[in-house]
Amino acid sequence: MFNFAFYNPTKILFGKGQIASISKEIPASAKVLITYGGGSIHKNGVYEQVMQALEGRTVLEFGGIEPNPEYDTLMGAVELARREKVDLLLAVGGGSVLDGTKFIAAAVPFAGEPWDILTKGAAVDSAVPLACVLTLPATGSESNTFAVVSRRSAGQKLAFGSVHCYPKFAVLDPETTFSLPQRQVANGIVDAFVHTLEQYMTFPVHAELNDRFAEAILQTLIEVGPKTLAEPENYDLRATFVWSATMALNGLIGSGVPQDWATHMIGHELTALYGIDHARTLATVVPHLFRVQADGKREKLLQFAERVWGIRTGTDDERCEAAIRKTEEFFESLGLPTRLSQYPEVKPETPALVAKKLESNGAVKLGERQDITPKTVEEILSRSL
Ligand code: NZQ
Ligand code: ZN
Repeated sequence: MFNFAFYNPTKILFGKGQIASISKEIPASAKVLITYGGGSIHKNGVYEQVMQALEGRTVLEFGGIEPNPEYDTLMGAVELARREKVDLLLAVGGGSVLDGTKFIAAAVPFAGEPWDILTKGAAVDSAVPLACVLTLPATGSESNTFAVVSRRSAGQKLAFGSVHCYPKFAVLDPETTFSLPQRQVANGIVDAFVHTLEQYMTFPVHAELNDRFAEAILQTLIEVGPKTLAEPENYDLRATFVWSATMALNGLIGSGVPQDWATHMIGHELTALYGIDHARTLATVVPHLFRVQADGKREKLLQFAERVWGIRTGTDDERCEAAIRKTEEFFESLGLPTRLSQYPEVKPETPALVAKKLESNGAVKLGERQDITPKTVEEILSRSL
């Protein structure tokens, strides 16, 4: 196992009715800016619950944060938060609202041009305290340091991470997710599945416990994912899914092991170019990346085949391919295509275009062995066409 430091300070408030407990977490004198998206929280009763819990505090609002949060929109909230000198940002919604709020939190005290945080990796030395009520299980953003922000005018979608951006607390009430459209639930299952794979499908480092944690999350998503899609208001199924998505990207399973993340880097470019949902990009990349990178990933692919999919017969190559096929079938059963050719907006020149965009961002050595070059990216995406 590699050396590691594991630190996750986010307090998780999990379960039915937990929005009410926000009142115990926020001082009565606090000035709070709540941030939200396009209006789902007004339709499912979450807004009322939050406002009730915040009673007595000074509460400001900033709505309209879009999926794949937009830099220009977020800068509007930065101005508001600076002007009003808010004490806490409370993100209420999905990963986009939360990611956007992490960026706002970092940008408010930032002395220079905040876009540099994303393009130049400018250091984030402080942030406005933030917390969240998460209504969409998928990203793990509720208890990690990362955020992904888009700038459509520049055709860019970029990530940053800062220890100052851990939410102080995260409310995870599975009932707030009952109103999700099926498409978002399916996307969330696949996003959490691929987060786990990015930290698992590399090479073995004798991290047996991490491997078992990751395999448990993958098996749970395979078992519970289709059921929670079919029975959206079954509390226990949904609670298991919500917790799986958090555990997939809160730093635990990635501690002490090599990580890949090339699928995500490629996926972000596909969203920047065509607006394809985040998880949908991942489903069109990861199976093909595994095929192209099969030599370096062979031992873990064989372990995945046996422990997660129960595949025990055939040659090594056959078992690896069978596990990749099973993964594709799982994604497709949830309604996510596994080939880019199923998106009419994608063109024959897309693989070269994505490779060039990654290159211009300096992302030329991706993957756990840093052997995924722009040429490899082209090959992976060509196989998906
Ligand atoms: O905007 P509203 O009206 O709230 O509607 C949203 C949005 O249209 C809706 N929604 C959310 N909760 C709902 C609901 N509708 C009904 N009932 C509810 N309870 O769902 C739509 C999609 O929301 P969004 O926040 O965009 O989805 P998700 O949580 O999947 O977030 C995706 C973003 O997170 C980034 C992605 O790149 C993408 O930008 N990621 C962030 C990561 C992180 N911070 O660690 C890691 C991920 O790999 C990912 O890259
Ligand atoms: Zn993701």
